Amino acid sequence: MSGAVIPDEAELRRRVGRLSLEQKIRLLTGEDFWALYAEPEVGLRRLVLSDGPAGVRGQSWDERDSSANVPSATALAATWDTGWVEAIGGLLAREARRKGVDVLLAPTVNLHRTPYAGRCFECFSEDPLLTARLGAAYVRGLQRSGVGATVKHFIGNDSETQRMTVDVRIDDRTLRELYLAPFEAIVREEGAWAVMAAYNGVNGSPMTQSPLLRDILHGEWGYDGLVMSDWTAAHATEAAAQAALDLAMPGPASLFGPWGDALLEAVWKGTVDEALIDDKVVRILRLAARVGALAHTLDPPGLPPAAPTLLPPGLSPDTPDSVAVAQELRAAAAAGFVLARTDGILPLPRSRPLDRSKPEGPHRRLRVAVIGPNAEVARTMGGGSATVFPPYTISPLDGLRAAGLHVTYAPGATSHLRAGEARAPWLLRPDRAVDPGTGAEIRFLSEAGELAGSELRDGATFMWLSGFASSGVTEPVARLEIRCVIRATVGGVYQLGVSGLGRYRLLVDGAEVFDATLTLRENADIAEALMRPPQQLAPVELAAGQSVDVVAEHHVDSSPFAGFATLVQLNLVSPHGSDDEEIAAAAALAAASDVAVVVVGTTAEVESEGFDRTTLALPGRQDELVRQVIAANPRTVAVVNSGAPVLLPWAQDAAAVLLSWFGGQEYGDALADVLLGDVEPGGRLPMTWPASEEGLPSTQPADGVLTYHEGLFIGYRAYDRDGREPLFPFGHGTGYTTWSHESITLDRAPDGRKWTGPGVAACVQVRNTGSRRGREVVQVYVSRPDSAVERPAKWLAGFATVDADPGETVTVGILIPERAFQHWAGQGWSTEPGSFVLAAGPSSASLPLTARVDLP
Ligand code: BGC
Repeated sequence: MSGAVIPDEAELRRRVGRLSLEQKIRLLTGEDFWALYAEPEVGLRRLVLSDGPAGVRGQSWDERDSSANVPSATALAATWDTGWVEAIGGLLAREARRKGVDVLLAPTVNLHRTPYAGRCFECFSEDPLLTARLGAAYVRGLQRSGVGATVKHFIGNDSETQRMTVDVRIDDRTLRELYLAPFEAIVREEGAWAVMAAYNGVNGSPMTQSPLLRDILHGEWGYDGLVMSDWTAAHATEAAAQAALDLAMPGPASLFGPWGDALLEAVWKGTVDEALIDDKVVRILRLAARVGALAHTLDPPGLPPAAPTLLPPGLSPDTPDSVAVAQELRAAAAAGFVLARTDGILPLPRSRPLDRSKPEGPHRRLRVAVIGPNAEVARTMGGGSATVFPPYTISPLDGLRAAGLHVTYAPGATSHLRAGEARAPWLLRPDRAVDPGTGAEIRFLSEAGELAGSELRDGATFMWLSGFASSGVTEPVARLEIRCVIRATVGGVYQLGVSGLGRYRLLVDGAEVFDATLTLRENADIAEALMRPPQQLAPVELAAGQSVDVVAEHHVDSSPFAGFATLVQLNLVSPHGSDDEEIAAAAALAAASDVAVVVVGTTAEVESEGFDRTTLALPGRQDELVRQVIAANPRTVAVVNSGAPVLLPWAQDAAAVLLSWFGGQEYGDALADVLLGDVEPGGRLPMTWPASEEGLPSTQPADGVLTYHEGLFIGYRAYDRDGREPLFPFGHGTGYTTWSHESITLDRAPDGRKWTGPGVAACVQVRNTGSRRGREVVQVYVSRPDSAVERPAKWLAGFATVDADPGETVTVGILIPERAFQHWAGQGWSTEPGSFVLAAGPSSASLPLTARVDLP
C-alpha cells in the first residue's frame, strides 16, 4: 500500500460539505478525455487516468510519447507466477509516475469465454481462479506503489460484437462462479481502488446503471472504491446516478456523458437525491487520497504536488528504454513462453561441427533460416485501447541476429490482410536533409487554410482523441496535411495509400492520385473504426533509389467520429513476389539451412478491441507456408506470435511448437534466449488451445441479446464434459527438463485466506528428473464424484511454481481455499457434504496424484 494518509469517512464528508451542488456534480464527469477536475477548495488536484494494460500510454496517442510495452495479459498469465505479475505491476506503477498518471485502466479480468473474443489477449485466462490470482497480483504491484488499478470491465464484457448495446444473459450460478469470481477476489483481497463498469448490459440493465453495482459490489463485497464508466458507456442521467456509478468518462459533460447540467436539474427536481451525489464525491476524494492527489489537510489550504514527484523512495524513474526495464521485460516475456511440443530439437546449439562425425572438431555458426512475416515485424501487443508506443521493439529476426547465429530471412507469406503501415526504410520525413529520419510532418490548417500548427512525427499512424490539444493545437482544425517522402529501395510497383474515415486526398509529387471518401461497415464499433479502418491504395511505379513527395490530406469534419477521434494512417506495400513465389523462396532457404525458425501470427487487424474474430485460422497463407517449410526441412521450429489461440493444423509435424504470445518490446531477445536455452520456456497454457472450431461458444448476439447458453462449461470445463480433445490442454507446457510428481498430502488449514475462511493445504512433492535446472507449475484441481449438483468434471483450485536443480526434490504448499469446494446455491454459497477429490499434476490433462477431502 502507498504511504498516503487516507482521511476517514467523516473527514471526506466534511470536505464534501464545503462544496456547492454545482461543484460536486462537476466532479462526477471527467474534465477531459483522461483527467478528473481539480477542486482546490477541498485540496483536490487534477487526477489523471490512462490505459492499460500493456503499458501506460499517458494522455496522448503519440508515438513520440513512448512507454514500456509489457507482455500481453495472456503472456503474463502463462507464467502462472503471481511474483512475475506483481513485479510487472510495479514496473507499470513506475511508468505511471514517470508519465504523471495516477490510475491505470487495468487489469482486464473478463474471462476467455471463447477464443473468438477480440480482446482475449488482454484478459488473463479462461479460468476464474487463475484470473483472480494473477489479477490480484497485478493490482498489488500497482497499488503498493500508490498507483490506482481499475479492474475492468464489470461485468459480462467477454466479447466485442455489439458490446455497446448488447444485453448479456448469464444465469446466477455462472455469474457467481465464473465471471464475478475474479472481481470478487480482487476487491476483497486487494481492495481495488477503482472498477470500470462495462458498456454492455447484464440480465436487462446496462452495467453503468446495474443493480449489481450496489447490491453485490458495495453491499456484499463491502467495496469502498470508485466505479467509473467505460468510455461513453453512461447514457441515462437518473438511472446511472441512482446506481452506484461514481464517475462518467470521458468528459467534459458538455460533450460526453449524461450528467453535468442534466444531473443538476434532476437533483433540483428531486428525482435524484443529493445524498447520492455526496456518496459519489466521497469515493472520488477517497481515490484521490489513495493516489496522493488530495491534500492531507485543508489548513493551510493547498494542492498536493502532481504525480511524478510522489515516487516513493526506492522507485527509480527508469525510462522505458533503460537497461533495467529491458532486462525485466525480457525475462518476463520468456517466463510466459509455452513450449507446447518438441521432439528434442530445442534448445538450439549456437554452432555445429564442420564434420558431424567429429563433434570435438572445428565448429561453424549454426545456419538458421528465419521465416515468416511476424519474424520481421512482430506483434508485441494487441490492438485497441491497450495500444502503447514502445521506445523500440525487438523482432525475432533482431533477437536471433543479436544472438550471433548465422541468420538469413525470408518473409514467406503475409499475415496482413490489408496494407500495413508505411515504415522504414521507405518512409522519410519530408525535408530532404541528409538524414531526415523515419516519419512525416503534420500540418494543422484552419478553415481559411491558415497554418494553425505543425509537427514532425516518427511514425505513420496519427490519432487524436477529442481535438488536437495533445499536439499543442487548440484552434479549430479543418484540414490535416501529412507530408512525407517515400524512397524506393528496389524498383517496381509500390502500393501507396491512406487508412481512416472520411475524405482523404493523396498526392504524389504534386499530382493527385486519389480523392476518396472512406466509409465503415454499418454499426461498426468505434474501436474497429480506429483499429481496422477502411483504406484506399493506389499503385505507384518507382525506380530503385527514387524518392517522391507524398501528401495525404484529410478533411476533419468528413469523419463521422470527428469530435471524438481523428485518424490518418499512411500505408505502403513494397514490391514483392506472389505468395507462391515467396513461399517457395522460404522453403528453399529452409532447405539450405541447419534449422528453420518460422514465426507465424496475427496482427492488430485480427486481434483487437472493437471486433471479434470470425475464424481462428492464421491470416493469409501462413499454414501453407509452415507446411512447405517443414517439408523442405523437418528441423523446423514453429513460433506462434498471437495473443490468443489460433488453429495450428500442422502442429504435430513441426519439430517444436513454441507459443510466444504478444511478448512486449523485448519479445525477440526473449525468444532468442529461449530458443538457445539460455532461459527456460517457463510458461503453461492459461487457456485451452483448440484443435478445431467445433463446439466453441459464439460471440454473436441474437436480437441484441447474447445468452451464455454454455453456463459453467467454458474452456477445459466444456472439453471435459463433451469428451473433446483439444490441440493442447489447459495448463499444458513442457520445458528443457523433466519432472516427476511424487506425492500429495493434505493438512486442513486452521485459518485459510481471509476472504474464504478455512481451506485445505495441499503439500505436493515434485522432483526434477532431468539434467538441467528448470521450472514446473504444479496444478491442483478439485472434482466431486457422485455430486447431487451439476458440476464440471474438475476445476482449478490452486497452483504453485517450482524451480529445482537436476535431481532436486521440492515440496510446495498450495492453499486450496474454502471457495473451491463451494457452489452458488441460489441465495448463497453452499458446500455439498461428502468427499471431494484433489488431483495434482503438471497440466489439466495429466494429474497423477490424488487425495480425498471429506467435508462435513
Ligand atoms: C475500453 C476500455 C478503455 C477505455 C479508455 C474503452 O473503449 O473498453 O478498456 O479503458 O476505452 O480507452
